[in-house]
Amino acid sequence: MIEIKNLHKSFGSLEVIKGIDLHIDEHEIVSIVGKSGAGKTTLLQLIGTLYQPDSGSIEIAGRDVLRLSRRELSKFRNEHLGFIFQFHQLLPEFTALENVMIPGMIARRSHKELENEARRLLDFMGLAHREHHKPAELSGGEAQRVAVARALINHPDVVLADEPSGSLDTQNKQELHQLFFRLREETGQTFVIVTHDEELARQTDRRIVMTDGRLDNGVAGNDAALVDSEEAGFNSEKGEKDSEKAEKTIE
Ligand SMILES: Nc1ncnc2c1ncn2[C@@H]1O[C@H](COP(=O)(O)OP(=O)(O)O)[C@@H](O)[C@H]1O
Ligand SMILES: [Mg+2]
Repeated sequence: MIEIKNLHKSFGSLEVIKGIDLHIDEHEIVSIVGKSGAGKTTLLQLIGTLYQPDSGSIEIAGRDVLRLSRRELSKFRNEHLGFIFQFHQLLPEFTALENVMIPGMIARRSHKELENEARRLLDFMGLAHREHHKPAELSGGEAQRVAVARALINHPDVVLADEPSGSLDTQNKQELHQLFFRLREETGQTFVIVTHDEELARQTDRRIVMTDGRLDNGVAGNDAALVDSEEAGFNSEKGEKDSEKAEKTIE
């Protein structure tokens, strides 16, 4: 579903993405973890075609996205990608139902069909009773689930989420995470989730660690990758202690 080769990106003289290769299968739920400043958001924005890389290639759903014109790109994003951010970024003047419908309106889908589908999605999220509420009248967890419904309305191939539960309390966090897995079962979407939440990361099909602009390939699932891998060595007891420390520093 996603094929990235030798990706590089700098902001001015600051090299942020330093040669990334990544393959993500259809229906896969992948998490990307790593310290703040490692380049996770930049990588996600590159996959989301919101930034142009300096070099390398990105293929999504069989399309070489770097060859698309600006106009083709916005159409591609609207039809193939769903975005979920740390803060819901719903439009305050519109109801939950309308917010969910907006990407479909941009895609010029029929109003009736769109409304039915937005209702169905909100229902699936346990929000049927909230469809006429505006974002300010929703709890953080509810607003974030509306944002998930909005990300899904155009049946994207890939959902990109940047710290989606970063602003939620434990209960809402767990509900949101379970929702991702339920959605994959229902709709077969591919998810790329940047997260600091180790519990979520461990539940995903693959946990990828990003360190200083690179992916630590081959050590997925190993917390020691969060610290200097040489220092952690083969001493698993020490590795565990170090990784606890590392998790604290990134939180
Ligand atoms: N638009 C930008 N312009 C300049 N520097 C940026 C920009 N976006 C991110 N950076 C820098 O790139 C580095 C990686 O940032 P980011 O991708 O946000 O990391 P993460 O999401 O892992 O915390 C940081 O040093 C950050 O300051
Ligand atoms: Mg970030």
